[in-house]
Amino acid sequence: MENTFRLSDNALGMQASEIRELMKLASKPGIIAFGGGSPDGLRFPFAEVADIEKDWSEAKKRAAFQYGATNGYPPLLEHLRKRMEAYGIDMTDQSIITTTGAQQGIYLMAKALINPGDTIIVESPTFIGALASFKSLRANFEWAPLDSDGISIDATETILKRLAKENRLPKFIYTIPNFQNPSGITLSQAKRKALLELAIKYNVPILEDDPYGELYFEGTAADYKSIKSLPGAKDMVIYLNTFSKILSPGMRLGWITGPSKIIGQIEIAKQSVDACTSSYTQVIASDYLEKGYVNGYVDKMREVYHSKCSMMMLALEKYMPKEVSWSKPTGGFFVWITLPKNIGSKALFTAALKRNVAFVTGSPFTEEGKGDGYARIAFSNCSLEDIEKGVKLLGEAMQEVAAGK
Ligand SMILES: Cc1ncc(COP(=O)(O)O)c(C=O)c1O
Repeated sequence: MENTFRLSDNALGMQASEIRELMKLASKPGIIAFGGGSPDGLRFPFAEVADIEKDWSEAKKRAAFQYGATNGYPPLLEHLRKRMEAYGIDMTDQSIITTTGAQQGIYLMAKALINPGDTIIVESPTFIGALASFKSLRANFEWAPLDSDGISIDATETILKRLAKENRLPKFIYTIPNFQNPSGITLSQAKRKALLELAIKYNVPILEDDPYGELYFEGTAADYKSIKSLPGAKDMVIYLNTFSKILSPGMRLGWITGPSKIIGQIEIAKQSVDACTSSYTQVIASDYLEKGYVNGYVDKMREVYHSKCSMMMLALEKYMPKEVSWSKPTGGFFVWITLPKNIGSKALFTAALKRNVAFVTGSPFTEEGKGDGYARIAFSNCSLEDIEKGVKLLGEAMQEVAAGK
């Protein structure tokens, strides 16, 4: 048996995600779950989706139950194209492909571009699912730190300069500009422009991952306009989005838009992975956009997440030891906590779990060995009462760890 399954180098390079392991521990009943990045589970648009299915014609039913084209369900692609244009993205010479979640979009993009040993510039910290995809293809990382207004432009330029000199420019820069996962930080519009200028100067494309962009609760849409919509971005930026936060992650439905040539390449990569994205959920999503339900849902959820985030900010002020600091998101799901030296996030996790509170330790989001001083807490899927109670208990867990008990 021992020699029966001889694992590939790729498989040997993959690690079980720390989040997944922690989530197993943290899924006991009654737990206050600041861990996962899940949308509010009580407020999905259940009634709207029931309405949509009730109205399906025979032809739509057949389309929903049948295999579909690899690039996506044509009416949905058309709605997405209009939506991209409404976001200010110039869609001439651009194509769209739907994906099985944005997670697959990230993976396919990397699969199309990455050879083992190639380099990707990522933010520090960054989304664990992207790191997992990139690692599975044996990419190397250059970590660009985040400032309070997004990725450090100076650090990114320093990395690019060095890599250009060594003749090994990165394949792309991966960024999450709005309410970043895990930090909650937003890239300022001035820095979006500067990042694009760098990308153009060094001829390195940007992979812009924007699952939370519509879920702002401070400012206006103009503050969160995508890099993809800036002049000059057309051939430099691949833009990824998802229905996970504006409809349901259970639908497993995302999309990518970019220059037609590279999207064609991604389509080829997708053929070897799952042939097509779920037709069923694409037909639902197409009607969800067509009937305008998305706008009502997003408007409602902005208010819901705003009140949850405000409660979390109040509770943090009230219960955190004074050496602890945290990000102040203006949208999205996440708050990033910076811990004092005497509180490691792994030790804190154990102490919090004893009190029935779960969160995610900082390490999986960062370069190895650099993340234990941080924690990610998500307010998105907790009640206001649990947010207050959970932060209070987290404060108590911090006192316990700091006291070395
Ligand atoms: C930054 C980021 N990208 C991509 C994803 C994956 O989204 P999806 O559910 O569409 O696969 C997530 C999900 O949490 C995310 O936070």
